[in-house]
Amino acid sequence: MNRYTESLEAQKNFVMPTYSQSIMLVEGKGSFVWDSNGKKYIDFTCGISVCNLGHSHKAISKAISKQSKKLVHVSNLYMNDIQPLLAKKLVENSLDGTVFFCNSGAEANEGMIKFARKWGNSKGKYIVISMENSFHGRTLATLSATGRDKYRKGFEPRVDGFIQVPFNDMESLAQAVENSGNKVAAIILEPVQGEGGIIPAEIEYMKKLRTYCDEKEILLMFDEVQSGMGRTGKLFAYQNYDIEPDLISMAKALGNGYPIGAFIASRKLGEILTSGTHASTFGGTPLACSAAMATLEIFKHDKVLENCLKMGEYAKKQLNKLKVRFPIVKDVRGVGLMIGVELAEKAQDVCKLSQKEGLLIITAGENTLRFYPPLNISKSVLRKGISILNQVLIKIQNNSI
Ligand SMILES: Cc1ncc(COP(=O)(O)O)c(C=O)c1O
Repeated sequence: MNRYTESLEAQKNFVMPTYSQSIMLVEGKGSFVWDSNGKKYIDFTCGISVCNLGHSHKAISKAISKQSKKLVHVSNLYMNDIQPLLAKKLVENSLDGTVFFCNSGAEANEGMIKFARKWGNSKGKYIVISMENSFHGRTLATLSATGRDKYRKGFEPRVDGFIQVPFNDMESLAQAVENSGNKVAAIILEPVQGEGGIIPAEIEYMKKLRTYCDEKEILLMFDEVQSGMGRTGKLFAYQNYDIEPDLISMAKALGNGYPIGAFIASRKLGEILTSGTHASTFGGTPLACSAAMATLEIFKHDKVLENCLKMGEYAKKQLNKLKVRFPIVKDVRGVGLMIGVELAEKAQDVCKLSQKEGLLIITAGENTLRFYPPLNISKSVLRKGISILNQVLIKIQNNSI
């Protein structure tokens, strides 16, 4: 029995079956991954917007390797020499404030929610408003903020203090705030909804939202776990809107695959989470921070954002041609390389068939293909991936699957 066969056997018996999986991936390089049978795929998933700079990036691997030989972990009861420099770098590239480090997107959002509760505590405010169709994570509080019932099914009752309103609808939001009796501490939203089907917030809505939150003394929190780290052509998606939030969360691509999450709270809010009020054993270890530092360095020097915008334009143009060619393609939308291709039906079939043909692509929402290539992808690989999609759509149209 070789290692992969042994692993497949073990998967069946010893791994909790919370995911529905097909192939086993064993290697990745740039925009490509290989499965346990040696088959090569173009990866338009990036591990769901995690390996935004491609797989096994040399400089990131080198940074992780170097740091792993020096210092892997120390408790946050001691300082380490990388975490503060990473915090400074993040702040310099986004919101002026202070950073809390954790390990995942849900944890980053959970931290923001706790921040909002603590901030609102003396003001009698504790409610968090989020958007219908949103996704904020799988912990109980972030599930309660998530705007889709299906994720909460079976896990009731919901944590108290969460309300959902329709996305891009200022009137409904204002109504919910009025109904709450001035108890709303914060509003959380994704500038571009990811899991919900790649739906960008409207510019006017975001501007009104900022003004409204200022007037009502409500915190505006952006969940940039999926839309952040360059996916929309800016380091954070909110930077496309010419407004600033009070808090932002990030994770996924922050360490380009090495787990690290964080949230930033604006300096204007003062010190809310003080010593002993919030913590994480692994948050901001030297190893995780070295991966994130290397990731940010690459953004600075390798024209990643420029490439993302250029390739995003090219991809949208090509995908719109598919829309003209195939009636099943209903919409192509998104920003940078955060693109959704909405189909009338059969999105899962398209993913399965694409996989057979050597392209990994996944869905978002009910029937939208989530088009997330690496931000530094070359035009030729991008073109090849789209041509596979074209072939698959021909087969689907001809009913030959
Ligand atoms: C917008 C958003 N927030 C939070 C999360 C949760 O992140 P994690 O799975 O790292 O906990 C996700 C994950 O898909 C996400 O897309």
